[in-house]
Amino acid sequence: MPGEGLLHNGRFITFEGGEGAGKSTQIRRLASALRGHAREIVVTREPGGTPLAEKLRGFILAGKARDFGPFGEALLFSAARIDHIDRIIRPALARGAFVLCDRFADSTRAYQGARGGMDAGMLLAMERVTLAGLRPDLTFILDIAPETGMARAHARRGAAGADRFEAEGLAFHAELRAKFLDIAREEPERCRVIDASRPEAEVARAILAACLEKWPLPEAEEKKWA
Ligand code: TYD
Repeated sequence: MPGEGLLHNGRFITFEGGEGAGKSTQIRRLASALRGHAREIVVTREPGGTPLAEKLRGFILAGKARDFGPFGEALLFSAARIDHIDRIIRPALARGAFVLCDRFADSTRAYQGARGGMDAGMLLAMERVTLAGLRPDLTFILDIAPETGMARAHARRGAAGADRFEAEGLAFHAELRAKFLDIAREEPERCRVIDASRPEAEVARAILAACLEKWPLPEAEEKKWA
């Protein structure tokens, strides 16, 4: 039926995972695969996506909020997220856009929840208030061994210093990985774990295939894609 199916409704897809998993590359690839087929594609990121949230991003990633502890940092990420949801995400979904977001609420669960610094119930309560009913339709968890991911992140940033979370040790990143995998286990309907250690093009194919599996194309569209 015209106006229905994968490419004609607002869809919210988030990309999660540890450092150096290749999220931004994969978002670019999915956006270009969908371009020309979707009504509109919005690529965005967290923390960030609005001028106010980008300011908070600079502040948090420079480590200036570190002394607040995980709860204070989680509050700041949530404040940035509320602005992002209100000004960018909800309006885009209402227009029928495909929203591809680099990190979202699962990053708060994993990063601020790592090391047992915060009560999981409190994080979930904060998430409920922040999201006010919004939920990603699909979440890709790009899974990679922390040693590999951190080496990639290090190679990418070159001589520049590590940011607030890249600077954490291997134990923290191993725990992050476990947290993301826990989320995928708890919400299998929404989450797809993708082995991100494979070559870029293979990972891209797996992501596109998961989208098409969740939202099969109407026959007419399928022909265009063939
Ligand atoms: P970014 O440069 O986007 O990292 P990456 O390339 O790994 O995605 O920086 C975002 C950092 O902020 C990243 O280390 C994860 C962290 N973060 C949190 O700790 N909590 C959050 O809620 C979000 C959205 C990000």
